[in-house]
Amino acid sequence: MADKFTQIAGDFVHLARLALTGRPQDVQLLVHRAAKRYRPMLPDMAESLSALLQESPTRASPLRRASEVPLPVDSDSRLQLLRVENHISFDHELVLTPEIEGSLRQLVAERGDPKALRDAGLHPTRTILFTGPPGVGKTMAARWLARELKRPLLILDLAAVMSSFLGRTGSNLRHVLDYAKSIECVLLLDELDALAKRRDDRGEIGELKRLVTVLLQEVDDWPATGILVAATNHAELLDPAVWRRFEMALAFGLPDTPAIEGLVRSLLSPYYDDAEKWSKVLGLAFKGSSHSDIERALTLARRSAVTTGQPLEDQLRGLLRVSDDLDRKERIRFAKELEASGVTSQREAQRITGVARETIRKATTTQPKKRKAPA
Ligand SMILES: Nc1ncnc2c1ncn2[C@@H]1O[C@H](COP(=O)(O)OP(=O)(O)O)[C@@H](O)[C@H]1O
Ligand SMILES: [Mg+2]
Repeated sequence: MADKFTQIAGDFVHLARLALTGRPQDVQLLVHRAAKRYRPMLPDMAESLSALLQESPTRASPLRRASEVPLPVDSDSRLQLLRVENHISFDHELVLTPEIEGSLRQLVAERGDPKALRDAGLHPTRTILFTGPPGVGKTMAARWLARELKRPLLILDLAAVMSSFLGRTGSNLRHVLDYAKSIECVLLLDELDALAKRRDDRGEIGELKRLVTVLLQEVDDWPATGILVAATNHAELLDPAVWRRFEMALAFGLPDTPAIEGLVRSLLSPYYDDAEKWSKVLGLAFKGSSHSDIERALTLARRSAVTTGQPLEDQLRGLLRVSDDLDRKERIRFAKELEASGVTSQREAQRITGVARETIRKATTTQPKKRKAPA
């Protein structure tokens, strides 16, 4: 009996801590476990606890709507610290590897059925780290998540906050985090490495260390009602201890050929009938470029087509080049693709790719033999 008493006392203290730090979902989880555990011993208490759980959790501790709470501002300049995006929409699709797309869909699915997770004694994923080079969709993926979850996206650019509010960064950061915790949103901490990078500067080491500590503590304690996404272009600057704090880490990368084809198709097809044909040749021409570079190049091409009155086809032809990332085999495939698609003449294909006509011809004639019979 003394044992049971100790257990109840332990749970009570835990419950108090969770309640006082404002973590309603964790409280819910604990109450759920307690109702199960104490049913044989204290059936009345278990019954009351279960009844409480039946009531909507948000009624007991309502999260405020974003519109009801003023946005946090810097105390001196009164500048807004956060950028908020509501009603997010995209003009082209987000193109990702199947693995990353699967993980993002999993995050959405978790939020769709919180009760099933709770019944299994689990939280939904609360904290996620996006790493990868610039322009490959980290910010866009955070926007996608917010859109799918029908929540506002709050963006805090740490690099900007660090440079413009030096000295008040700590209090500003706290301000923003408290605000983000009080509403149902997706919070994106962009350029997380800004904290890590500045650590080397003399004179501010103490202050920065404190900031990093504050931030990491928040990551550990982030309420399950919210989602905290941190993004960085410089994963190598982050301490391994920082990585471990996040429940999920997704490494974004440059698009591979099928992804480039998908992106080109998605960018061109609303405006252009030959998007499919061009996606095949540009899939190789853009190898090694980021999604964002590809988007920029295609937008420029469309813009010049409009201003010059020339066909888009002519502008797109200007984008054909041999990327440094193509090996010899891919270069031959590129040459062949150019010719087969009719995008260029044989002579042009040779000029662009540097592959001799004879080699192209050989590759073209031997190719069908190598191809597997359709299943
Ligand atoms: N994976 C992607 N799929 C589709 N478009 C993308 C992708 N990645 C980047 N883009 C385009 O490039 C722009 C900038 O990308 P962004 O998400 O800000 O990159 P990051 O945050 O990784 O630096 C986006 O607004 C989008 O138009
Ligand atoms: Mg970004």
